[in-house]
Order: sequence, then structure tokens, then C-alpha cells
Amino acid sequence: MSKPMINHRGPEFAKLIADMTTSLKACFRTSGDVLTLTSSGTGGLEASIVNFLSPGDHVLGVTVGFFGDRIADIAQAYGADVARLEFAAGTGADPGAIRRHLSERPDTRAVLVTHNESSTGVTNPLRDIAAIVRETDALLIVDAVSSLVGIDVRVDDWGLDVVTTASQKAWAAPPGLAMVSVSERAWRANGSAQMPRYYWDLKVAKQWLGRGQTQATPAIPLFFALNEALSLIKREGLEDAIARHARVGARARAGAVDLGLELFARPDVASNTVTAIKAPPGIDGNAIVNLVRDEYGIELAGGQGPFAGKIFRIGHLGWVDESDIDETIDALRVALPRLGFKVPVVGKR
Ligand SMILES: Cc1ncc(COP(=O)(O)O)c(C=O)c1O
Repeated sequence: MSKPMINHRGPEFAKLIADMTTSLKACFRTSGDVLTLTSSGTGGLEASIVNFLSPGDHVLGVTVGFFGDRIADIAQAYGADVARLEFAAGTGADPGAIRRHLSERPDTRAVLVTHNESSTGVTNPLRDIAAIVRETDALLIVDAVSSLVGIDVRVDDWGLDVVTTASQKAWAAPPGLAMVSVSERAWRANGSAQMPRYYWDLKVAKQWLGRGQTQATPAIPLFFALNEALSLIKREGLEDAIARHARVGARARAGAVDLGLELFARPDVASNTVTAIKAPPGIDGNAIVNLVRDEYGIELAGGQGPFAGKIFRIGHLGWVDESDIDETIDALRVALPRLGFKVPVVGKR
């Protein structure tokens, strides 16, 4: 990122964005388009809505938490007729309920789904959901911000129409880039989509990509960083990266249970990129986060929305391995008793 700046209208940038896009397509497992936006993940989500829908379109927002609500809120802000299918926090979406909605509302233009709900540590059964949506003409618009390259996502095989991710998550680059894939079906919908857009216009982004450029000035240092991150992913191998996240996720869950803590997500949908843990009764989850950060140098995350103070989360996406998890569990083992929680003695549980 500290390399001297290059001209974003010159040949060096054209090669950079072309190489990066080729690597991104391999990670999304698509032969379709992947567009990189100078934006956080939320901007990518906004692009995934405004390019493919019109005000008044009936849209199903499937939500299991904070980020499922966010993409539904974006669609609503642009005038879509959003029906929300909400599932209890800590559980995953029920594909059967999605099928029922789609058969009752054959006019549904799109289904919005968060693959990995970071606020509760839940991974939705995206492949099963996709199979159901693909029985209809509805677009499947996916927030894969905290799943891609940490959890398997197969854009072409599963028939995912628009998929958004963000550089700071399992890609292990700094924040500031959103990457969005677009299927042929989605491009057809783009032809008649009336929602207003300018900075987020993906058709314009595709035209500029064809010239090896972006319409507006891109965050070039972030492009350098993401390109490097992609070469590290390539070196490890996508399958191996996903397998590592599965091992690390299992270790985080086992470590928490070993400490006598209760996991927030149901085991069958527990995420391999983030583990949500219930704060023990009488202990504020944020106090745990603060103590572990201030005295043990480990950054945990608190709960969001209604779960602020009630849960805390271990993020384990990107360049995280088993030793990072062990260090985190060790820190909790000494921190929790200081807050009044009795950690069971190893081997005595
Ligand atoms: C699942 C999910 N969706 C969307 C977002 C929003 O991304 P950003 O904060 O990069 O805008 C996040 C961020 O944590 C997320 O975890």
C-alpha cells in the first residue's frame, strides 16, 4: 500500500484491475462479471439493489439479524415493496418458508439473503435457498460480505445472481473495497430496473472495466492491497482457505464451550467466520470485550442492536489460525474470573 501512486488512467492500473478481476472471479467461482467498487460493503449492497430493481417491485427480505435487516432497509429506502421473513436470532433461515412465500407471491422480483449473519454468528443454508429461488424467475441477491473465501460460495453452480463482499473480511485486506458479482439474469433485469443510481451504476462500472479503468478515481492503495491478498489466497488455495476457516471455527466453538460458556448460534448453522457467545448471566458482554482488549491485547466484538451487552463475538476470518484462537480462549480463561465468572477447571467438567 505504500508503493508510489500510479495513474488510474494508465497501463499499470489497467493490468492491476484486470489481474485482480480474474482472481476475484476464481474466488466467486463465476465466469460472469465481478466489479470492484471503492466503497465499504454497504455500498456494494446498495449497488446490488439499485441496479436490478424498480420502485414498487415486490421483494422478499430474508433476515436472521442486523445485516439481513440492513439489505431489506436499503431496498425499502429505494421504494421496493419489501416483505420481511424474519427468523429468530441464532437460528438460520428456513428454505421451506421461502418457498411458501414465493408460491404465494409469484410476483416476487428478488429474494435478499445474508449468507453469513455476522451479528449472530449464523450461516444461512444458501445453497438450499438458492435451489428454491431458482425454481422461480426471482433474482437471488446475496450479502456474502462475511462469508466469501472463508465459507464456500459457488456463484455459477448455485445460480446466485448478485453477490456482494468486502475487502476487510475473509479477504484479509484493509477496508474500503466492495466486490459485486452479476449474473446474466441480473444484467437482463438491469435493462428495465428503474431505481435511481449514479456512483453505484454497475453497467457504467462494467463499461469502464472494459477499458481497464473505473469511472471515478479508485482507492489505488486498496487495489494494491487486495491484489496482494488475492495472491496469498491463491498461494494457500481457496479450498484450503475454506477448510482452515472450518477448523478455526470449530476450535473457537469448542474453546468457548470448554470455558463453560454458551454459544449463541444453533450448532447446525454456526458460522466458521465469527462465533457469537452469550455473556454469562449478570456480566455485561461489553465489559468482557473491554477487559480482553485493554489488558490482553485481543480485539473481540460486542453484540449489535438488541444484543448489545448480551453477547460478544470472536471474529476468525482472514489470516487467523488455531494459535490465534487458543490465545483468545486463554485470555478469556483469565479475564472472565476477574468479572465474576467461574471458569470450570480443565478436565473437571
Ligand atoms: C454480513 C455483513 N453485511 C454487511 C456488512 C457491512 O459492511 P461494511 O461495514 O463494510 O459496510 C457487514 C459488516 O460487518 C457484514 O458483516
